[in-house]
Amino acid sequence: MPKRIKLGILGGGGDSLIGIVHRIAAYMHDDYEIIGGVFNPDKAISLEFAEEIDIPTNRIYATVEELVEEEAKLPEGERVEVVSILTPNFLHFPMAKTLMQAGINVICEKPMTMTHDEATELLAIQQEKNVLFALTHTYTGYPMVRQMRQMIKAGLIGKVQKLDAQYYQGWINPIIHDEEKRKATWRLDPTKSGISCCIGDIGTHAFQMLEYTSGLKIKSILADFNHVYGDNKMDVDGTVLIRVEEHVKGVIRASQIATAEENNFTVAVYGKTGALKWEQENPNYLYFLQEGKPLQVLKPGHQYNFEQSLEASKIPPGHPEGIFDAMGNIYRGMAKAIRGEEVDSGAYPGIHDGVRGLNFIEATVASHDQGNVWIKLDD
Ligand SMILES: NC(=O)c1ccc[n+]([C@@H]2O[C@H](COP(=O)([O-])OP(=O)(O)OC[C@H]3O[C@@H](n4cnc5c(N)ncnc54)[C@H](O)[C@@H]3O)[C@@H](O)[C@H]2O)c1
Repeated sequence: MPKRIKLGILGGGGDSLIGIVHRIAAYMHDDYEIIGGVFNPDKAISLEFAEEIDIPTNRIYATVEELVEEEAKLPEGERVEVVSILTPNFLHFPMAKTLMQAGINVICEKPMTMTHDEATELLAIQQEKNVLFALTHTYTGYPMVRQMRQMIKAGLIGKVQKLDAQYYQGWINPIIHDEEKRKATWRLDPTKSGISCCIGDIGTHAFQMLEYTSGLKIKSILADFNHVYGDNKMDVDGTVLIRVEEHVKGVIRASQIATAEENNFTVAVYGKTGALKWEQENPNYLYFLQEGKPLQVLKPGHQYNFEQSLEASKIPPGHPEGIFDAMGNIYRGMAKAIRGEEVDSGAYPGIHDGVRGLNFIEATVASHDQGNVWIKLDD
């Protein structure tokens, strides 16, 4: 058994939403051990949390800068090898920059940065320092999403002609209608969240998943947002028309005010001879539609699935796996890369997904602000 990879964590404390998902994912395949980090801007709270989750407190730091400095003083085999950034969005860029400049690999939550310029700067640093970077677009870790990607790659639905993603949540609805609450959440504060809320938070997942599953690059977009109130600067609902080429088009529908919806994320790709459809709330089913034939429902763990999908299941068919497992598969892919093993390009999303995501976010905001015009994305 190879030694466990030494993992540090920034953010993701007891008060966070995504921290527990990363901690479980890190331990899922016995690849990592959490050695410390900065769980909270208040060091006392970080220390308390370290005790709560029963990890040593001697490598809990006050800031990322202190982490980098102190870890460098340790003997090589003991130093942190990769750090996960699970803080609010505005901290991703400075933290990732500090870590990568020190030669430390990074696992980062999405959106990768606040701006496209920051994203391209991170790409340059990553290339210069030759460090690894994983971006946790969690849904790419599901076995049936990987199966969808492989089936499309193998031509099983023919030439792709339409892309469709819907990502509907309702959690901002009770916040947006309450003036006090809408001023208190960091996600509606552009200084903490970036220039977009809904598209930045969930529209980017939809965009990334359409490109991940179809293997196509979206070339241009046209967006229409809803802010609901005049004093709210951030989109909480957006419809984005997408074009890959003249005869390959589609739509991304994202909303955080789709009243009472939970995490209703559906990705569908339609080809000349068939289609594939996957729903996040029922992630163990992949719907295979073919003209004139009965609907087929594919499930994980069966030998009819592609290798990349099979590798993403840990237990025999019929035992449901979910979001923790999906994140675990991304951590697994990154662990293999850190150990120098060969990894497929679909094993974990990377820095290029982050750059494209920021390009997409900025383009949608520009499109809406300029009166719903078509905007080209970078090649
Ligand atoms: N991949 C996904 O599906 C997914 C799902 C949810 C959230 N996210 C992303 O994860 C990130 C965090 O989201 P969340 O919902 O967990 O946020 P949250 O507000 O629930 O938690 C943020 C955490 O960061 C900590 N923090 C804040 N400032 C810090 C600092 N200076 N140093 C160290 N820690 C600090 C907070 O104490 C808290 O523990 C966001 O970028 C979000 O977009 C991704």
